[in-house]
Amino acid sequence: MSKLNECVQRIEEIKVAFHEDTANASLNSRAVEELKVKYLGRKGLVTALMETLKEVSKEDKPAAGKIINELRKGIEEKLETLRAAAEEGALDESLAAQRLDVTLPVAAMQSKGSLHPVTLMRRIILDAFRSLGFTVYDGPEIDLDFYNFGALNFKDDHPARDMQDTFFIGDRSKTILRTHTSNIQIHAMMHERPPLRVVAPGRTYRCDSDITHTPMFHQVEGFIVDENIDMGDMKGVIDQLLKAVFGQDLSTRLRPSFFPFVEPGAEFDLQCVSCRGKGCRICKNTGWLELGGLGMIHPNVFEAVGYDSEIYTGFAFGFGLDRIAMLRYGLSDLRQLFEGNQQFLGQFPTHP
Ligand code: DAH
Repeated sequence: MSKLNECVQRIEEIKVAFHEDTANASLNSRAVEELKVKYLGRKGLVTALMETLKEVSKEDKPAAGKIINELRKGIEEKLETLRAAAEEGALDESLAAQRLDVTLPVAAMQSKGSLHPVTLMRRIILDAFRSLGFTVYDGPEIDLDFYNFGALNFKDDHPARDMQDTFFIGDRSKTILRTHTSNIQIHAMMHERPPLRVVAPGRTYRCDSDITHTPMFHQVEGFIVDENIDMGDMKGVIDQLLKAVFGQDLSTRLRPSFFPFVEPGAEFDLQCVSCRGKGCRICKNTGWLELGGLGMIHPNVFEAVGYDSEIYTGFAFGFGLDRIAMLRYGLSDLRQLFEGNQQFLGQFPTHP
């Protein structure tokens, strides 16, 4: 047999061997690497063929070299395909092994947060007003004297403008921290045309601090402007509100009082939630709890915002949110609401 024939036969044997070695479809990356060494490595079968080539006659060399190269190329390509397949298989396998079922229930949380009593109270109150058709309004905490006092019919020498009550900002005259949420009445009325039903919660500021007063506190303001609004409507709204907050039929009463932006003006009291009017420590034996102020909107206020007081009437009311929260949740010290004590706050529910 010529050397060329020997070489060709050897090539055929290698082809058959390689075919057998790769017949098993699912080779892993390591097995593929081993085959590469076996056939193409320094001491591999194809490399060894090169030795045989040396003995082939000069004329036959190019032809023999060509078939060996084709064999090498064929093996390289096949191994590359197998390597890629092996890698993909490994990825699928690891993805399958690490499968994460996002629909599984998570472990129950150890502790849930709670809402601050003032937040709870605000939500309950706003819900009650929304169900009566009121729109919730917001207004600035830093405001001009005009909105907080001037347009609300406070005369220039009214004691409420005094330094003892009001925090002035800057030049002590025009810009202040609002002393009540009544400023929102003016903002809302100047923005909208009647009919209007507005409720507006917010922070308010007065230069005052003792067991029943904090320099920052919360109020809720509300008002209605329409044709033919009278004090009966006002009493009805207040009764509804208190029923929503305290969940029981407690009486309310109005006592004549003075606020520059209402005429007539009154304060409203609630029958004591603790003794239901018999007299106790909480109501200081009067049987009543003072809650806030209200009245029919003064014509001068309508004039300041450009409403015709011959056509429109309205009522307004305002009360302290902190005080109602204290009564509703039986708290004894206003300052508890502002200290941020986790143990105290953790006792309240997560929703109203
Ligand atoms: N703004 C008043 C205050 O802070 C409360 C108040 C009284 C609001 C009468 C009103 C009202 O809307 O009609 O003491």
